Amino acid sequence: MTTNDSQSSPNSVPVRKVRKAVLPAAGLGTRFLPATKAQPKEMLTVVDKPQIQYVAEECVASGIEHIIIVTGRGKSAIEDHFDSSPFLEDFLEKHGKKQQAKMVRDISDMVQVSYTRQKEPLGLGHAVLVARDLVGDEPFAVLLGDVLIPGENPATKQLIDVHEATGVGAIAVEEVPRDRTHLYGIVAGEPAPQPPFGARLLRIRDLVEKPKPENAPSNLAITGRYVLPPAIFDCLERTKPGAGNEIQLTDGLRTLAQEQGLWAYIYEGISYDAGDKLGFLKATVELALLNSELGADFRAYLKTLKL
Ligand code: G1P
Repeated sequence: MTTNDSQSSPNSVPVRKVRKAVLPAAGLGTRFLPATKAQPKEMLTVVDKPQIQYVAEECVASGIEHIIIVTGRGKSAIEDHFDSSPFLEDFLEKHGKKQQAKMVRDISDMVQVSYTRQKEPLGLGHAVLVARDLVGDEPFAVLLGDVLIPGENPATKQLIDVHEATGVGAIAVEEVPRDRTHLYGIVAGEPAPQPPFGARLLRIRDLVEKPKPENAPSNLAITGRYVLPPAIFDCLERTKPGAGNEIQLTDGLRTLAQEQGLWAYIYEGISYDAGDKLGFLKATVELALLNSELGADFRAYLKTLKL
């Protein structure tokens, strides 16, 4: 460890900088058929960008230097999207479209991207485990590609701040209605307020993947943003298939919480589950309203609708 890539937490434990992020993108997108029959769900467009670009931009805004995308069969459009595109750039330049040429170039210049494949759909925990060699022995972020969290204060950066201040992993959580707990990982935790994070910080006691409302230990749901120590890999190695007969990241996190501690952080912001048809529509409408080019006209159009 060099002095440049580490800092001390208040209790003098050296904390390594979070430089890498894993984006699991191997899922089949069955919630979004038929749109996902022949294209990756991560490439579905929200306003004017594929979903995975929003997530990559959140990484960059959070200080991440290297993104590791875990793909599978039929996902090569993701690699093409982040690759350079000399033919298209050349065409745009020659036709005087310098702005568009720059926009295309910026996507491939944004950040270092590596790919690895999950050969079988064995679950989210397994997908993260597949990235083990590329992550190595350092803390890293995990961002789910179909959860969009727009805004100036990236959720991943908020978790990195918690990790850097405490040396302990942190996962983003938010309240959901009781009748929706079966759609999420749910955490049970005790308030552990400390400056500057205040009452947003909870010490995790337990986590359950997709419990029925009557079995849910709370209504605090895991949002799809995580900052984890490399010890999670050993925890996942020991994790047996759980909900849906898949190796669940949530189950690996339970072991991590017991052995090393783990924070739940009630992040500031709003998330959209864009892997779900209704969530996708909400994300599209709300991000279109925020869009600097289209927002005003789109708002005027919505006002003309007789709802
Ligand atoms: C995954 C996680 C779950 C989390 C959710 C957030 O589930 O397993 O713990 O709450 O993402 O969107 P999925 O939505 O992939 O079924």
